[in-house]
Amino acid sequence: MNYYSNIYKPTAKNLNKSVKLLKEGQLIGIPTETVYGLGSIANSDKAVKKIYKLKKRPSRNPIIVHFKDLKSIQSETMTNKYLKKLYKKFSPGPITYVLKLKKNSKISKLLLNKNKHIACRVPKNKIFLKILKKLNKPIAAPSANISNRVSPTTAFHVHDEFKNKINVIIDGGSSNVGIESTVIDLTKKPKLLREGFITQKKISNLLQIKVKKSNIINTSPGQSLLHYSPGIPVYLNRKIPKKNGALLVFGKSQIKSNDLFYLSRKRSLTEASKKLYQLLRKIKKNGYKNISVTPIPNKDIGVAINDRLKRSAK
Ligand code: TXA
Ligand code: MG
Repeated sequence: MNYYSNIYKPTAKNLNKSVKLLKEGQLIGIPTETVYGLGSIANSDKAVKKIYKLKKRPSRNPIIVHFKDLKSIQSETMTNKYLKKLYKKFSPGPITYVLKLKKNSKISKLLLNKNKHIACRVPKNKIFLKILKKLNKPIAAPSANISNRVSPTTAFHVHDEFKNKINVIIDGGSSNVGIESTVIDLTKKPKLLREGFITQKKISNLLQIKVKKSNIINTSPGQSLLHYSPGIPVYLNRKIPKKNGALLVFGKSQIKSNDLFYLSRKRSLTEASKKLYQLLRKIKKNGYKNISVTPIPNKDIGVAINDRLKRSAK
């Protein structure tokens, strides 16, 4: 495989280089356990503006801020009774909390939603955590893709999106979870803004309240747009591929064809989540003109997978 000149192994030297670039207000590609992020220092308007520009992201769509631990989230946000409980169980990990920002916070206001609330996540990925600790400041990072496209789950995907427009992409291998974090608004009664690996059911069970899915897309505009598009049409709940198309299969296929791509032969939703974006990209790269997908059970993380697929099929 080709190794591009802006893809770097996560050595101590290269992580120090990343930290130096972040301090200078530059953008870097960073691995997380969910998908790769396009990171900038979070307290600089100038640096944050570069993210919006490079991603072609509408300025009304807020950006997740990544912290090294609970204490650093709490130093920027108002006390929240749900945060501690959720954090203890699910963080560091694939979950993002929307919280009220403290008045004296130095975080760039360009990252906030229209209510001036901030989305906070502590990633589990060791490389990202090392960078956060060395930098000792929060990092703003949306998924490292042009707006509305499929999120990247390898350093090469990030390179496919931005080529040499960023100087450093840290190669942390394939993202383990493979789809973006669960987003939950904790500023009022907890509401789910985006489905993810940490399910609505798990959150409801822990908090002992029924956590509903929010239909207020205004606060989380990323959920209202055409999203996760591989660049060719996607058709759901099919058993056979269409003309010049591929079939993305969950479980065993009922047909024989050279155009089959398996999300998980053993019907593991975790495996399917890890492979989903990788296969959508691969199918497009292989020259297929459309993608059909077999039904995927709508339970556990299957809910998040179906959510992403529905959007990619719009
Ligand atoms: O797993 C993830 O969350 C990845 C990795 C890099 O951490 N990041 C990610 O960021 O998926 P992005 O920007 O691609 O998606 C963030 C989603 C969008 O739907 C956005 O509207 C919503 O979270 N969001 C961000 N900040 C928010 C805020 N302050 N209030 C409500 N929604 C917010
Ligand atoms: Mg995204």
